[in-house]
Amino acid sequence: MDIKTVGVVGAGQMGTGIAHVFALAGYEVLLNDISEDALNKGIDLIDRNIERQVSKGKVPAEDKAAAMARIRTTTKLSDLGPSDLIIEAATERETVKQAIFEDLLPHIQPHTILTSNTSSISITRLASRTDRPERFMGFHFMNPVPVMQLVELIRGIATDEPTYTALHKVVKKLGKTAASAEDFPAFIVNRILMPMINEAVYTLYEGVGSVKSIDESLKLGANHPMGPLELADFIGLDTCLAIMNVLHDGLADTKYRPCPLLTKYVEAGWLGRKTDRGFYDYR
Ligand code: CAA
Repeated sequence: MDIKTVGVVGAGQMGTGIAHVFALAGYEVLLNDISEDALNKGIDLIDRNIERQVSKGKVPAEDKAAAMARIRTTTKLSDLGPSDLIIEAATERETVKQAIFEDLLPHIQPHTILTSNTSSISITRLASRTDRPERFMGFHFMNPVPVMQLVELIRGIATDEPTYTALHKVVKKLGKTAASAEDFPAFIVNRILMPMINEAVYTLYEGVGSVKSIDESLKLGANHPMGPLELADFIGLDTCLAIMNVLHDGLADTKYRPCPLLTKYVEAGWLGRKTDRGFYDYR
């Protein structure tokens, strides 16, 4: 299967990172979001992030212009029709993702592979609501996408081998490394990472340490590039809470219960960097 045109749904943190790496790797990219404003902000962010790579000598200047020219934007899902592969990178809510796939179905080609960048939701369940569960997969990128080497590939129960092989080839062409994960709540990375972040929030909640001491402890004591609370702010506290809820509901084990302090921050709208306030104040 020859994948040339890639549709990306969602021009947030993940969608823009995904559009960025696909355009640099030579794919035609159709980037979709619900508003022109979100798309304009997304394109600005991609431009700045590729420029960062150019200024560090990692990407030749002429490649930047070519990559930016390969990205077209649209507010209409129906414009993603020519895509050979579609990557849904919308908000981490199952109803939103399901609605996007339902809206896409009348417009896409029979061979088009559908994927979700979900960090935790069942691929089998998302696939079952489409007309092509055999050509549906979890395609999970890490943040920041242009920097992180790993992509998780998650087969749903019905995913066929040609689909898996096609996506494995795409990951290689992006210069990244694929890890296969079975379709269980939060797959591999977030099954391990999120309980650690949640435990860091409990450590704060119970007064064992301060934001600063918790983050410094993990950075200097365990060589993590970011402390867990700083990382939670970077990922988005709403996303962290959503993933903990998927683990808690899906595995029915109290060890995954979200820390009440995490819930309180999300209820306050303190979602981390994207709202300028989380465990840290970015204002
Ligand atoms: N686009 C392009 N390049 C970027 C970038 C972006 N968005 N963000 C950072 N970079 C580049 C920088 O240009 C820099 O490049 P050089 O090495 O060539 O200098 C490099 O990345 C490091 O960046 P900085 O010097 O600005 O900052 P840093 O050294 O503090 O590193 C970091 C930043 C890479 C984000 C590092 O702190 C890190 O690795 N943090 C942990 C990230 C992590 O764990 N991500 C996974 C989150 S979990 C997830 O994503 C799954 C999920 O579903 C929730």
